Amino acid sequence: MANTDSHVTIHMAASLDGFIARKDGRVDWMETSDEFASGDTMDPGFVQEFLKTIDCYVMGSRTYETALGFESKGLGWAYGDKPTFVLTRRDLPRTRETVEFYTGDLTEFVNRRLRPTFRSIWFAGGVAVSSECLRLGLADEVRYSILPILIADGIRFFEKLDRDIALHLAEVKAYKNGLVALRYEVRK
Ligand SMILES: NC(=O)c1ccc[n+]([C@@H]2O[C@H](COP(=O)([O-])OP(=O)(O)OC[C@H]3O[C@@H](n4cnc5c(N)ncnc54)[C@H](OP(=O)(O)O)[C@@H]3O)[C@@H](O)[C@H]2O)c1
Repeated sequence: MANTDSHVTIHMAASLDGFIARKDGRVDWMETSDEFASGDTMDPGFVQEFLKTIDCYVMGSRTYETALGFESKGLGWAYGDKPTFVLTRRDLPRTRETVEFYTGDLTEFVNRRLRPTFRSIWFAGGVAVSSECLRLGLADEVRYSILPILIADGIRFFEKLDRDIALHLAEVKAYKNGLVALRYEVRK
């Protein structure tokens, strides 16, 4: 049975024109250098505390491969010691014990495996996995961080949704670095 206390969040950062990565998967454009004087400061202590509230991550294999690439360049592993579930039908390298691979039905996985165990379930992308999560009606919340840049082409935030998905705008925050964080609740 699904734990009614559990919460599925999709979070991604995108350019103002709605892309999460370039066509070839690069996210080099994410290092922006804007200044929005009246924005909030992203306090590292607050970010650390917030990250503690996330109980597990779910991601597609391409996002996992990007994370491995960052790690091999010495940029660290973004998901701390939290259980990280990677959706894939391939045999991928498992570089740490917290990583687990899954192939199969996403509804079954979220409702029977994740929801009974984890309270805050965080879908870290990419588009394929996040869109499937929304299409299947599994997401409770969408967090969309808009970066102050246009990149004109790339991988879209959402793809092939077969219906409209109504949202409720729950929170808006603008930061000193020009990032605007939007939080929406999915209207069921
Ligand atoms: N801007 C951001 O916040 C953000 C966030 C996340 C990712 N990204 C970027 O976006 C790019 C990748 O996104 P993407 O949408 O192309 O790929 P993705 O969602 O990360 O991965 C797609 C892959 O996941 C696997 N998959 C999906 N559903 C599955 C299921 N139900 N069962 C088993 N496997 C499943 C398949 O992998 P196999 O082919 O292995 O079977 C599929 O090819 C990367 O460059 C990444 O860095 C950006």
